[in-house]
Amino acid sequence: MDWGMKNRISKLIRPDTGRAVWLAVDHGYFLGPVSKLEQPKKTIEPLLPYSDALMLTRGVLRNCIDANIDTPVILRVSGGNSIVGKDLSNEGITACMEEAIRLNVCAVALSVYIGTAHEHQTLINLSRLIDEGQRYGIPVLAVTAVGKELEKRDARYLSLCCRICAELGAQLVKTYYCDNFEKVTKSCPIPVVIAGGPKLDTDMDAFKLAYDAIQEGAVGVDMGRNIWQSEFPVAKIKAIRAIVHENASVKKASDLFSSLKKK
Ligand code: R5P
Repeated sequence: MDWGMKNRISKLIRPDTGRAVWLAVDHGYFLGPVSKLEQPKKTIEPLLPYSDALMLTRGVLRNCIDANIDTPVILRVSGGNSIVGKDLSNEGITACMEEAIRLNVCAVALSVYIGTAHEHQTLINLSRLIDEGQRYGIPVLAVTAVGKELEKRDARYLSLCCRICAELGAQLVKTYYCDNFEKVTKSCPIPVVIAGGPKLDTDMDAFKLAYDAIQEGAVGVDMGRNIWQSEFPVAKIKAIRAIVHENASVKKASDLFSSLKKK
């Protein structure tokens, strides 16, 4: 791997722990003003000091984020669909590599929809983006999207998706946690991070999700709604960080969360 690519990845995955807590705030690209992200700046700013990277679109980056931040950026560069449209899988590339370089990002992210009508199109999008990324030293984060079909999140399907992304040359992959998650991480030769998915019923559920994913081989989380839709987002991300970077147990994270909530 070339120096520039390695250097960017070292800003995303902490070299001292080998782990990462990324804040996902790209949801508006197909969901519009999703709850608690109506004013991105207000939601994101308090969480920045605790985020190892920020995943978002160029629109929110340019309009809502100060250019003097230290936090590395993962730029979402796929889209072209919406939650009210016909088919969430019909994505194309929405920002070019020149834009990514202009915005000084550490990685670009693109969704693939394997097993859908647009499988071929989104895998070719990924391959083209990886070619461009290789040319300029920009890592590609492949996102194994399931659209509205959340029930697809099982180890057989997700291990197939992650492995295909790695085979096509992605440097990083984001997927969902599932039962038998080790099957996904063990058969994927690139670092795997998990999405949080829709907000879980309890904070404890989110801590357990992060804990189990780390124990079963994920290098970290790229989490959104389970952090910023929480009543106490800063306490929540700090507790998640303890799990990811300090190997805290679910109980320890939950105790930390409870004590931080009171402050
Ligand atoms: C979804 O398409 C986006 O890429 C999100 O970044 C991703 O799902 C992670 O956010 P959440 O933890 O809210 O699922």
